[in-house]
Amino acid sequence: MSKPLDVVLVGGCGHVGLPLGLAFADRGLSVALFDIDADAVERVNRAELPFREPGADEVLARVVADGTLRATTDPAVVGTAENVVVVVGTPIDEHLNPDLNAVQGAISILGDHLVDGQLLVLRSTVYPGVTALVERLMLDLGLDVDVAFCPERIAEGKAMVELFELPQIVASRSQRALDRATKLFRNIIHEVVVLEPEEAELAKLFTNTWRYIRFATANQLFMIANDFGLDYERIRAALTHHYPRAADLPGAGFAAGPCLFKDTMQLAAFNNNNFQLGQASVAVNEGLPLYVIARLEQRFDLSDMAVGILGMSFKAESDDIRSSLSYKLKRILRFKARDVLCHDPYVTLDPDLLPLDEVLHRADLLVVATPHPMYTDIDTDKPVVDIWNLRGEGVVT
Ligand SMILES: NC(=O)c1ccc[n+]([C@@H]2O[C@H](COP(=O)([O-])OP(=O)(O)OC[C@H]3O[C@@H](n4cnc5c(N)ncnc54)[C@H](O)[C@@H]3O)[C@@H](O)[C@H]2O)c1
Repeated sequence: MSKPLDVVLVGGCGHVGLPLGLAFADRGLSVALFDIDADAVERVNRAELPFREPGADEVLARVVADGTLRATTDPAVVGTAENVVVVVGTPIDEHLNPDLNAVQGAISILGDHLVDGQLLVLRSTVYPGVTALVERLMLDLGLDVDVAFCPERIAEGKAMVELFELPQIVASRSQRALDRATKLFRNIIHEVVVLEPEEAELAKLFTNTWRYIRFATANQLFMIANDFGLDYERIRAALTHHYPRAADLPGAGFAAGPCLFKDTMQLAAFNNNNFQLGQASVAVNEGLPLYVIARLEQRFDLSDMAVGILGMSFKAESDDIRSSLSYKLKRILRFKARDVLCHDPYVTLDPDLLPLDEVLHRADLLVVATPHPMYTDIDTDKPVVDIWNLRGEGVVT
């Protein structure tokens, strides 16, 4: 009988699964990535990244070439590894409610393939209580599987650094599962923090919610300053100058992406929709594109103008357009402006993007929606709205 694999990642070709698989494989573990996305699986096996993640391409080339990592759409691979790590997406629905069944739904489909003695690690960001549900699911399936919850806390774009630096939260009700999960993650990071599963589930949601609230605070302060004709960035620079207690006040900007808003809503749902700070943060952050347009309408007749949007991904130097507020801005501007012209240097999934030169030439007005560094020095005499203060020219709109 062949030696079992060290790790199988379920959802392994995604933004969290693939970097983690690469990190394990780069430390010498044998890794398989199971994913239902056949296109992503083929690309990974060709040593091609399905999305941008700095530092991942050279590791992928190495571990595919030496056979330490491979991807597959065959769920049977799940039964061939000592450790099974689940990193499927956990989205919210059109009513902003979390899909409570996303993780255990994926696992129950794998029920026929899991085998006694495996360690099952949940790594997706889950609605509190999902770990307990998965423990019960294992019992119902008659499986003797150790269950742990070990949340991912990397930021996209920094995965190949942060996976080796951020302490790993490890949670389980069983000491054996804690020991096994600790041993697994010590392959990439030494520092482990132990919590109960429900504490760890909240720790992950609190992490993202705290970040989202901080961005909302900055965005609301930006709007207050701007409404009084004052430059938020000038004020922020002054108040943070040699003043450590305020040093973490963020700049203004579109706070978006696949995690922060979604996880704030997961926490609100968990607390019976009673989460005023989180809900206020949604109103502020999701309202910023509307605010920018309302301010522009006070200065310009948009119906007669072509507006250029610079940056469509949800954050700088990323190709990820999931829940990007650039698209909300675009949708509203298409209703209000004569034309909307979009550019992004990284995004590949949007056929409507135009070359930068064309946007700069045809647009009457430019909005920096994503702070890609390449927009810092663009040469234009058109008005530029730059809430990020990327160009250092002040941000009053
Ligand atoms: N993206 C981030 O920066 C980040 C950071 C920390 C935590 N997280 C959390 O990690 C989880 C995954 O997020 P992501 O951004 O990697 O999502 P993703 O959509 O990029 O990846 C999920 C992958 O799972 C696959 N998949 C879905 N259902 C499956 C199934 N039943 N069986 C096998 N594969 C399946 C998809 O094809 C996809 O490749 C989420 O819970 C998210 O909240 C994300």
